[in-house]
Amino acid sequence: MERTFIAIKPDGVQRGLIAEIISRFERKGFKLVAIKLIKPSKEFAQKHYHDLKERPFFNGLCDFLSSGPVLAMVWEGEGVVTYGRKLIGATDPQKSEPGTIRGDLAVVVGRNIIHGSDGPETAKDEVNLWFKPEELVSYTSNAEKWIYGVN
Ligand code: GTP
Ligand code: MG
Repeated sequence: MERTFIAIKPDGVQRGLIAEIISRFERKGFKLVAIKLIKPSKEFAQKHYHDLKERPFFNGLCDFLSSGPVLAMVWEGEGVVTYGRKLIGATDPQKSEPGTIRGDLAVVVGRNIIHGSDGPETAKDEVNLWFKPEELVSYTSNAEKWIYGVN
């Protein structure tokens, strides 16, 4: 089953939005398979955002990600990479639709509270960067037969 990497950034953690954000993924029907609270180093943040290293905000972004606790998670489900991004909303919260996490809970692009992998390949890379294989928990949830239906 498809997996994606989701992180609540330091602003989301500090603002007490962990439960609110997890709840949106849970209620949708996605399954949590890994979770940990960590304070990444700046070098680690640079690895995570390596695609953006030429952008003017790269240094500030990496300083910010490494400034405080990050709640790192892996979520599993059909279409979770693409739909996870829909739940999150557009990068700039001024452009995120109401009803999305960033649309409802954030105001500026530099403090948009959550990260989600932007495609299946990135998701695999990010899951591997943030988690060891043994930190991923495979299990069957009782809700699955109601979420997906069974014949
Ligand atoms: P992530 O899920 O965090 O990767 O966001 P994204 O995929 O929606 O956007 P992108 O990967 O392009 O940018 C990564 C992060 O850099 C964003 O979430 C923002 O926090 C930050 N960012 C992007 N564009 C800007 C910008 O123009 N200014 C500032 N200050 N930050 C930006
Ligand atoms: Mg991105």
